[in-house]
Amino acid sequence: MASPTLISDTEAWKDLKGHVEEIKKTHLRDLMADAERCKSMMVEFDGVLLDYSRQRATNETVDKLFKLAEEAKLKEKINRMYNGEHINSTENRSVLHVALRASRDAVIQSDGKNVVPEVWSVLDKIKDFSERVRSGSWVGATGKVLKDVVAVGIGGSFLGPLFVHTALQTDPEAIKSARGRQLRFLANVDPIDVARNITGLNPETTLVVVVSKTFTTAETMLNARTLREWISAALGPSAVAKHMVAVSTNLTLVEKFGIDPNNAFAFWDWVGGRYSVCSAVGVFPLSLQYGFSVVEQFLKGASSIDQHFYSAPHEKNIPVLLGLLSIWNVSFFGHPARAILPYSQALEKFAPHIQQVSMESNGKGVSIDGVLLPFEAGEIDFGEPGTNGQHSFYQLIHQGRVIPCDFIGVVKSQQPVYLKGEVVSNHDELMSNFFAQPDALAYGKTPEQLHKENVPPHLIPHKTFSGNRPSLSLLLPSLNAYNIGQLLAIYEHRIAVEGFVWGINSFDQWGVELGKSLATQVRKQLHASRTKGEPVEGFNFSTATLLTRYLEATADIPADPPTLLPRI
Ligand code: F6P
Repeated sequence: MASPTLISDTEAWKDLKGHVEEIKKTHLRDLMADAERCKSMMVEFDGVLLDYSRQRATNETVDKLFKLAEEAKLKEKINRMYNGEHINSTENRSVLHVALRASRDAVIQSDGKNVVPEVWSVLDKIKDFSERVRSGSWVGATGKVLKDVVAVGIGGSFLGPLFVHTALQTDPEAIKSARGRQLRFLANVDPIDVARNITGLNPETTLVVVVSKTFTTAETMLNARTLREWISAALGPSAVAKHMVAVSTNLTLVEKFGIDPNNAFAFWDWVGGRYSVCSAVGVFPLSLQYGFSVVEQFLKGASSIDQHFYSAPHEKNIPVLLGLLSIWNVSFFGHPARAILPYSQALEKFAPHIQQVSMESNGKGVSIDGVLLPFEAGEIDFGEPGTNGQHSFYQLIHQGRVIPCDFIGVVKSQQPVYLKGEVVSNHDELMSNFFAQPDALAYGKTPEQLHKENVPPHLIPHKTFSGNRPSLSLLLPSLNAYNIGQLLAIYEHRIAVEGFVWGINSFDQWGVELGKSLATQVRKQLHASRTKGEPVEGFNFSTATLLTRYLEATADIPADPPTLLPRI
């Protein structure tokens, strides 16, 4: 068998390696002066405008990136994903999150079976159940309406739903349908997170949704047992049936936990945890909060991008362009990070969600065939909403390290404010920054300009901005449920494009396992030391010293303590 080819061995990759040296001689100040070039770097689909003219790239660069995509068989890989092939080869699974938002009449096959009817049967069940809870026809054990929901889950069973919830919270239509209701998320196994999440809630009016694909995640299961105790202690063990429901692929474990499987919402192995926000993982808690019709709009927005990603040619394909430009920045310029900068407070949880989607997907060291990569894959994602980020880490991105930036702007604010006598509206003020920052990064400020402004010579080096720092801008028409779905799918697919071209498996996550198994060893030791006084053994000097210090300092905890729940 011929040895698998790495993308870095291809002519297209080598060509780009040479080309980047040419591009390094250019400055964005000059590239931006070419209006034709800039025009060709604007792409619009379904109201979303991408402007990538502030990338350190020419039309020739983009053509060379398309050649790279061809060598990587990008289009074939996208087709294989949509066709339900087992492209997640290390787990032998299809990758079909696109099926979660497909229209009812679509046909998407996994293992010879159309999965869309199953998807819609769960969506119908969610619609029915959430309407019963919201209307008060499903009540708690004491007959009270369940107006508050705590979703217990971590990683992909938390970050996506939290992002969408945070984004919808200030949308006028979503506000109307959420009146009188609360949705909270308990993720960290830290008991402080339990305390924060149950504070101010009454078990009588609370529904707990345990969200876990595997139903084995240590953090989620301990948090679920903790909230089960919180409900039982207040309302008696029989109340659990009315106050706890689940979302999982593992309905056997759901039942074992004590949740009626009729009150569980299924999803499937072909949905990766970090790609699961459009499954019951997100749709169920969000429907409880906002009603199914709002959430359906979110699914429609994502579906619109799914169709665009599948069918648009590369030069007009927003996720493809974004993915290829990321590869250009990471693999050819060697920029290890990417800043995600939404100029919308409603998107404050977008970067944390994309951190998982991107870094858990593409943070890999070997190719899909198991060959050690001779290049770095993945990037370090971080971000904050503008303008808060400007007063935090923008110093570094303007004058320190080069960090390619994604600026995300919204044309119409969810919550416009106009003050009589002000120069501009509050949203215009925000957006002034959205438009200004990319130019500040691209153009910078030269010593000559500073001389002309009579800046004292000793300050000139400090006030000089080199510029030539790449960014791209995404402009959304508004930020309703539909647009939120579009944004999500654009990033999901962009990350898949990167993985497809790098030739890695973006859909497994073996890297999270080692830490989990070492924690199991520590847990056993803590138990043995506390209950049987066993000495700390089998750890290196450092861990043994820390563990011993921890155990000694908490020696007053009884071996079998009574149940204690937070009291804040
Ligand atoms: O962090 C590892 C991980 O497996 C993620 O991929 C996943 O999103 C998260 O744990 C939660 O898993 P589960 O939904 O099975 O509880």
